[in-house]
Amino acid sequence: MKGIGIHQYGDERELTVVDMPERDVGANEVRISIRASGVNPIDWKLREGYLKDALSFTPPLTLGWDGAGVVVETGESVNKWQTGDEVYFRPELTEYGTYAEEIIVEEALLQQKPTELSFAEAASLPLVGLTSIEALMNIARVQKGDSVLILGGSGGVGTVAIQIAKAIGATVTATSSDKNRAFTTARGADHVIAYDQDEVIDGEFDVLFDAVGGEPYKKAISHVKNGGVAVSIAGGVSQDEETIKIEQQKLIQVNEMFMQPDQEKMKQLNDFVTAHQVSPVLSHTYPMTVEGARDAHQDSATNRTKGKIVLVRDENTPVQ
Ligand SMILES: NC(=O)c1ccc[n+]([C@@H]2O[C@H](COP(=O)([O-])OP(=O)(O)OC[C@H]3O[C@@H](n4cnc5c(N)ncnc54)[C@H](OP(=O)(O)O)[C@@H]3O)[C@@H](O)[C@H]2O)c1
Repeated sequence: MKGIGIHQYGDERELTVVDMPERDVGANEVRISIRASGVNPIDWKLREGYLKDALSFTPPLTLGWDGAGVVVETGESVNKWQTGDEVYFRPELTEYGTYAEEIIVEEALLQQKPTELSFAEAASLPLVGLTSIEALMNIARVQKGDSVLILGGSGGVGTVAIQIAKAIGATVTATSSDKNRAFTTARGADHVIAYDQDEVIDGEFDVLFDAVGGEPYKKAISHVKNGGVAVSIAGGVSQDEETIKIEQQKLIQVNEMFMQPDQEKMKQLNDFVTAHQVSPVLSHTYPMTVEGARDAHQDSATNRTKGKIVLVRDENTPVQ
């Protein structure tokens, strides 16, 4: 199974064509011809080796865990999907990623690609969508009328998290750079705080969703209401004594999370998408080639991505 990945950790020059051992399709699995793969910070962080203690992969591995494509084979117990169905998905985090010609995925993790979305648009949604749903709905249990503060409103997660919080009926304040203020407002944020203009957070919020970590979380935590909820996907919580003191004094429920894909969250995401409450936000697409993946990783690692980066595969061209 050919893909783009690494034989050893290192910079983007380590990205190369990887030939992973062939696998048979299991009873509840589906083989998918991939047409597009989302690119997420986890891809280049893993490639660099930053996550080697947390994720026990031994290279070689194919990168990317965000995809859209066409069903080409179904396992013997699969009834829902047929050859030719167009699907999108966030697969389990294994050595068989989505920068690849094909992938085998549990059928429960798939949703039908909405016809109005391109493969690239569909592939941009699962990882950031499931992350936002887990944080805002499953952990923080955001309700209509809640106030939500989202750190990193213009990034891949932030742009979708804003849309989901708004769909639930929350009032949303998001942080972004000044140049992305209008872009973040256009995603639905009621208020945007430009962190690079020294604009300060005003008031208190029921929920803090942190997609940035570090100093921005420290500045934001004192703006969570007593008994409110903070969820970080970027290592923000309890980072020093001062932060822990505020979290404890205000009885804030603090949560550090690492998203786990499941059928229910993927269905919820698809419901938001088909109801036109969540739309994809693509900034750059690159071809699914080694050169394209290198460019995409350099782009993502700038930490300045607006919305999402996606690799697009020409179905007739082998990954090269
Ligand atoms: N734990 C999990 O399950 C999980 C899941 C997904 C992602 N993550 C992590 O969450 C983080 C965000 O992911 P992502 O996909 O959204 O990344 P991304 O698309 O690369 O985010 C880039 C964005 O971050 C914004 N940003 C940078 N510094 C900022 C600051 N000080 N304040 C506000 N915004 C700032 C940038 O906005 P400007 O250009 O406007 O400055 C840019 O739009 C990454 O660290 C990723 O690894 C974790």
